[in-house]
Amino acid sequence: MVFIKAKSYEDLSKKAATIIAAQVLKNPNSVLGFATGSSPVGTYKQLIELYKAGIVDFSGVTSFNLDEYWGVPITDPNSYYAFMHEQLFNHINISEDKIYIPSGIGDDCCKNCAEYEQKIKEKGGVDLQLLGIGRNGHIAFNEPEEVFSVATHQVKLTEDTIEANARFYNSKDEVPKTAITMGIGTIMRAKSILLVANGAEKKEMLEKAFNEPVTPSNPASVLQYHNDVTVIFAD
Ligand code: GLP
Repeated sequence: MVFIKAKSYEDLSKKAATIIAAQVLKNPNSVLGFATGSSPVGTYKQLIELYKAGIVDFSGVTSFNLDEYWGVPITDPNSYYAFMHEQLFNHINISEDKIYIPSGIGDDCCKNCAEYEQKIKEKGGVDLQLLGIGRNGHIAFNEPEEVFSVATHQVKLTEDTIEANARFYNSKDEVPKTAITMGIGTIMRAKSILLVANGAEKKEMLEKAFNEPVTPSNPASVLQYHNDVTVIFAD
């Protein structure tokens, strides 16, 4: 486990983007795992800069996103599909057919979940997974539970997460109540993990996740069991 204290959010973002760029430089065909939320936005901005400067080429990269709201089509501006295209994909040379985001629509969510999990396997697994952390310790949309989830699955979002994500909507009532997410097992199978956390509230969550016993009631704590985790945080 490597902990890096950044001087500011910008510094955090530059450091995180550098680690991702280094992964792509070492292996241009890397499978990257991307995250949504506000924490990685600066990292994406810096990755775009590195791409524009000709330092990193994403043409061989395959990407898998952690999660998507259930019942939300890709045309919805609040979909994570739209978020990722706006914040990153539209500005770099990743090929559209190498972008995978769980599908939030369909008649059979379990089928979507199984297909997504299978696709990750087919591509050889995620080389580097970027993560944020929710204010209740959730990673992706894995909320505090009694057991760790093994694979991509459908989740019911907690009131706390709905409230936290209400800032992207006109009101809390508009926030989707369920989502499709990689499981804790899916995330733990990534070869390396990079977690970015910004602000005092997140620092507290990090301390709980990494200094207290591993428990599914604090999902991020499971990362203590991964052998290649880098955490970058700024107060
Ligand atoms: C959402 C995402 C998570 C993200 C979390 C925290 O719930 N599904 O992947 O880590 O938000 O977001 P933020 O970085 O905005 O605090």
